[in-house]
Amino acid sequence: MSKTNYSPTGTDAWHNLEQLSKVEANTRITELFDLETDRVERMSLQAGELFLDYSKNLVSKNVWRQLIALANESNLLTHRDAMFCGDPINGTENRAVLHAALRSEQGDLRTSEDRDRNSTINQQLEHVRQVSEKVRNGSWHGSTGKSITDVVNIGIGGSDLGPKLACSALSEFSHPSINIHFIANVDGAEILTTLAKLDPETTLVAIASKTFTTQETLLNAKTTLDWFEETLGLKSAQASAHFIALTASPSNALAYGIPESQILEFAEWVGGRYSLWSSIGLSIAISIGFPRFSEMLAGAREMDLHFQNAPIDQNMPVIMALLGIWYSNFLDAQSTAVIPYCERLQLLPSYLQQLDMESNGKATSLNGQPITYNTGAIVWGQTGTNGQHAFFQLLHQGTRLVPIDFIAAVKDSLSNDEHHRVLIGNMLGQSSALMKGQAAPESQPHRYYAGNKPSNTLLMDSLSAKNFGALIALYEHKVFVQGSIWNINSFDQWGVELGKNMANKLLDSDLDHDSLDASTKNLFDHMKKII
Ligand code: F6P
Repeated sequence: MSKTNYSPTGTDAWHNLEQLSKVEANTRITELFDLETDRVERMSLQAGELFLDYSKNLVSKNVWRQLIALANESNLLTHRDAMFCGDPINGTENRAVLHAALRSEQGDLRTSEDRDRNSTINQQLEHVRQVSEKVRNGSWHGSTGKSITDVVNIGIGGSDLGPKLACSALSEFSHPSINIHFIANVDGAEILTTLAKLDPETTLVAIASKTFTTQETLLNAKTTLDWFEETLGLKSAQASAHFIALTASPSNALAYGIPESQILEFAEWVGGRYSLWSSIGLSIAISIGFPRFSEMLAGAREMDLHFQNAPIDQNMPVIMALLGIWYSNFLDAQSTAVIPYCERLQLLPSYLQQLDMESNGKATSLNGQPITYNTGAIVWGQTGTNGQHAFFQLLHQGTRLVPIDFIAAVKDSLSNDEHHRVLIGNMLGQSSALMKGQAAPESQPHRYYAGNKPSNTLLMDSLSAKNFGALIALYEHKVFVQGSIWNINSFDQWGVELGKNMANKLLDSDLDHDSLDASTKNLFDHMKKII
């Protein structure tokens, strides 16, 4: 089949997988272990300090062969090479997708602009280094000459979730006397209660916005400007040392009044949800220091190289993507759970929600055709062991198929042997119990565990900056692989526009209430009675 007319459903592999799903849906994973003596060895692999065991999946050798065939028959390899070559694979916005360039080394990129790109990237990262080091060593002074004790990152979506996750995940390395705060929601209670606890003389605000047009971010920024004006008597506080802009739209930041030297730029070809590696990561560099920030980039680069060079059937992001496709498209799973057994990764599920659902929640193909098969799964989760005492009931005895990613660090220098043994023991106990199940004792059907619930287990040697970078890049590439096979553009997000426009219409003072739908009008009328 010509690649331009490609649809996954037109491949032989897709057809074979449909057939296999009819006969293999009831296969017992435990029986596959009995049949396949090499299963554990065959279905586990190492990339850097990440180890993936995917043997607890509902996947026989036949199914696996067809999933690999699907990857080979799809657009994946051409699409992957096009991304790393800087082709404009984000067609609806005519943009290249080069977040991997931010963590590349000279020669990694396969574009003719390789050198130019790298020198621009290096300059931008150098700016991040300089600013972060000045803040960390106390030589960045506020308007009254004091050093910075608190940094407030104002941004939403990708301008919030990545930096917030990284600062939390790598809190082991955080600066002892600089606190980082994240404000995303336009809910005034958030920004106002945060500011009330801060000293304006020692507060630095980073306005993080790729476009520098986002309503929530600009309103939160305005509230901080007012606060500086009221508390320090600053006029045009945005021009003071209390403000920094992190953006791909420097002209908008300049027009806002931020001095050029305080605008940390990044390129258009960095998607918002892929931007923690860019100057959007300033708060990370301030928190953990630029050398560790660079280690995070190096870990992501290691995963980029693995993704580009490892054979398809030994390629961690490809393997995880194919497993997700098997469950979504052939076994009708609606969602997938991510359960880190590490409290410092508590924000990982919400980070992955944007990465995965904003990228692959699409119903139009790259050829502009409506899609007739499932695309992006619903991603959800929370840390173990907390989740065990909340939603694990449904995982063990519910009626839905929910494939799970269990994630843990083998060593944790912030914990101790006793806690860590119990934590990891719980994770392994859960994945094993979910797979094996248990027969009900006589006359106690409510104690039946069906088992056969699939999971991956991903172990990092430790939660270092490098391994964290590799982990995030792994999921970025997993999402990319799925988008390629599903033949969708994983790098635009037109779906969020309609709601934004509607909200703006409703906020317009000239709003004609009679033009509203009956339910919305009713809600307005109800609120009017209360306010
Ligand atoms: O509305 C969705 C979105 O565009 C996300 O993709 C993005 O991460 C977020 O808004 C914030 O955008 P910006 O960084 O331009 O403020």
